[in-house]
Amino acid sequence: MGKITIAVDGYSSTGKSTIAKRLATALGYIYVDTGAMYRAVTLYALDNGYIGTKDDIAGLVKELPKIKLKFVPNKETGRSEMYLNGENVEQEIRTMKVSRQVSKVAAIGEVRTKLVEMQQQMGKDKGIVMDGRDIGTVVFPDAELKLFMTASAEIRATRRYKELLEKGENVTFAEVLKNVQERDRIDSTRSISPLKKAKDAIEFDNSDMGLEEQFERIHEFAKRVI
Ligand code: C5P
Repeated sequence: MGKITIAVDGYSSTGKSTIAKRLATALGYIYVDTGAMYRAVTLYALDNGYIGTKDDIAGLVKELPKIKLKFVPNKETGRSEMYLNGENVEQEIRTMKVSRQVSKVAAIGEVRTKLVEMQQQMGKDKGIVMDGRDIGTVVFPDAELKLFMTASAEIRATRRYKELLEKGENVTFAEVLKNVQERDRIDSTRSISPLKKAKDAIEFDNSDMGLEEQFERIHEFAKRVI
């Protein structure tokens, strides 16, 4: 078989992006973090007053054609970073300010239509590892390998909390845990493309598994399909 499409879905902070990036590097595939795209639209909505204390969803939807997203590789690290209308927003989209609002923005049908179209375009030639919530169910229902990552909410919040502290954010563990649970709730219950395991996805609980072991196992799955 030639190049395949690999979909990595799952709950918030299950380490999807770490494993997906590593897998893409090992296979020489493109890696796409679709969460970054929803986060960038949310940042735009926050900066322009469409979301926050008062929400103006119709206003945001009208502005969608003005929102230009692009992944650009960092010259030093080689890692791709998110640009919103020409500005590097890679750091800002990972803050709690954005995490608090992103699931609301991701539930808007017009936002999803725009981003799903871009994602399908990026993966049209296969050779891609894409992570998100609806990749195996909606974006690439025919993906040759689908993974569904899970871990307990406490473990996920602990990982996220450490990351945010390292970046210097002033947050409490309780706030991070609440955000992880709240995003999972909204993402799994929204009417359009809710987060759910695709029937043919392999479920992967990594609560008690180190990164190395996870990678080895997932790399094995991929090699069997390719
Ligand atoms: O993956 P990450 O946690 O950065 O995603 C942020 C949010 O973007 C998710 O909580 C979800 O609301 C939304 N999302 C989505 N569909 C995707 C990827 C992310 O709805 N494919």
